[in-house]
Amino acid sequence: MKIKLKIKRSAPLNESEPFFQAFSIDAYEGMTVLEALLKIADEDDPTLSFRKSCRSAICGSCAMTINGHARLACNTQILPEIHKFGEVILEPLSNHAVLKDLMVDLAPFWEKMERVMPYLTPPDAENTAKMTSEDEAKIDKSQQCIMCGSCNSECNALEIDEHYAGPAALAKAWRFIGDTREGFAEKRLDKLSTEHGMWDCVRCGHCTQYCPKNVAPLKAIELLRSRAIKLGITDNHGAKHALSMTNSIKRVGRLDEAAMTFKTLGFLRSLGMIPFGIKMELHGKMPLPLILPQIDGMDEVKAIFKTFEEKDKNKEDSGGKS
Ligand code: SF4
Ligand code: SF4
Ligand code: FES
Repeated sequence: MKIKLKIKRSAPLNESEPFFQAFSIDAYEGMTVLEALLKIADEDDPTLSFRKSCRSAICGSCAMTINGHARLACNTQILPEIHKFGEVILEPLSNHAVLKDLMVDLAPFWEKMERVMPYLTPPDAENTAKMTSEDEAKIDKSQQCIMCGSCNSECNALEIDEHYAGPAALAKAWRFIGDTREGFAEKRLDKLSTEHGMWDCVRCGHCTQYCPKNVAPLKAIELLRSRAIKLGITDNHGAKHALSMTNSIKRVGRLDEAAMTFKTLGFLRSLGMIPFGIKMELHGKMPLPLILPQIDGMDEVKAIFKTFEEKDKNKEDSGGKS
């Protein structure tokens, strides 16, 4: 079957503007995007640039944007894409500077990885304690990462702040912080609680949705946040926001935006938000603070909190094993 692939070409070194180039190839059942790219490079244009190595969804090097989302070229088949979208459009990963064609600069990706210190640091070199299979299960997913960068490419927080640690590095951080042999979990969490750290995630879920290895970075971020709060690392906007949100729901069953703003930003910084708050009030977008009534069905909300508090208590009593 003859199909067309549109590939975004660019060569920033030549200062040329990016453009889409169409290539026509004979596609066969089971042909992957990577095989199509190799065919084009062999038969049509040897200057076409892209990365690949294992061809088996193991090395992570062939990640690119395929029909709008980050995926691995070596485990994405061409024909299903054609059937679904009518065409195949290939672009480099988003949120990364383009080096040439489908190749991006991964230096910031590795710098972020380095920032979370991706290695185990037991309290002393002698500590060779074995993990139980239950302990191992808690960090298992984060060990499946192949460093492809797809999650960072799809991350909404990274799109607005290039300095944000990003889902890949945070999933890696959980790999070590969640490891029972780690000796500096608290110190690591302290560092991750600063600006551009774990609290910058806006919970869009794209990292989990587009990870080809089911690493679920958002879950890892939630575990990091929850561990930090349990350890009392709460003197930051993210933790304050999460705690005030929880308190608000526990108190009235809904969000008390005004109170949350004061608790998150502190009194002085919240003053600047007052004009915005008044506008929200006038448009019926924010209930009046302080006199906020409880929602109907508050009993159910209380029951949910009670269940989770008991669950947490049981966990503590059993040494975190349940
Ligand atoms: S859930 Fe958070 S880390 Fe994941 S893609 Fe969205 S903003 Fe980024
Ligand atoms: S978490 Fe998933 S998407 Fe992100 S780098 Fe690792 S394997 Fe790729
Ligand atoms: S070539 Fe290794 S993951 Fe695709």
